[in-house]
Amino acid sequence: MKKWKTKETENERNRKPGKQQTREVQEGHSRMAQKKKTTVTVVSQKQIAAQIYDLWVETELAEEARAGQFVAVYPHNAATLLPRPISICEVDRDRSRLRLVYRVAGKGTAEFSACSAGESLEVLGVLGNGFPVEKAVGRKVLLMGGGIGIPPMLQLARELEAEKHILLGYRDQDLFLQEDLGQYGQVYIATEDGSVGVQGNVMDIIRVNALEADMIMACGPMPMLRAIKKYAAEQGIAAYISLEERMACGVGACLGCVCRTKEIDAHSHVHNARICTDGPVFEAEEVEI
Ligand code: FES
Repeated sequence: MKKWKTKETENERNRKPGKQQTREVQEGHSRMAQKKKTTVTVVSQKQIAAQIYDLWVETELAEEARAGQFVAVYPHNAATLLPRPISICEVDRDRSRLRLVYRVAGKGTAEFSACSAGESLEVLGVLGNGFPVEKAVGRKVLLMGGGIGIPPMLQLARELEAEKHILLGYRDQDLFLQEDLGQYGQVYIATEDGSVGVQGNVMDIIRVNALEADMIMACGPMPMLRAIKKYAAEQGIAAYISLEERMACGVGACLGCVCRTKEIDAHSHVHNARICTDGPVFEAEEVEI
């Protein structure tokens, strides 16, 4: 498992120095100001796997939330200034609730994991662009989630009007969300240690089951997304990938998430995109990963 510290180090390599960075940080803060911070109430929370927590909160943000979007949750601890981006796992619009399934990866998320029903949290959202579900209507789609990239696949599976094959990659038999996802399509499992399903990763599921599809929608660690990008290019099919693992603050303020893009950005005139504000979902061929 990638540690928070490792992710920060990797992200720092992508940061741009000088005036450009200053301007972009300012832009990030003004974008933060446009989105309203709201207080949400914890409805329930439980641990569902090692370091993985399942949190339901009550909030009017449920009205607008879509698959692939995320919220930024603020730790109470004032020493931890930046919020933590957490992807939306499930939306219950009828009861104005959001389900957030996240991994404890540092002090901020450790603090969230101690919250129980009735407590409140400060949240900024809803953030990010989400998956283009309208492009998948009537198609055969592989939904591919790896590790903590699995949670956004649940709301995606609920929203997609398509033939869904759901490929999930775990480290070992400590599975989570596989039963929830099984309600919306055929689930295939891969584990690194081979304790459940196919030994290997989600790409091995495709190979072993000779799966074919018109489109891929995926979220997970970078090596997995790189393999998906390559596979989709070879097959000549579209792949939409969520790069949320590369995010740090989630609100455009830290520049820890910049990635190179094929096209030049019309605003900044550079081959760059911020994953948190321009993504986190991109068409695979549009980004260099
Ligand atoms: Fe902080 Fe994008 S600017 S994660």
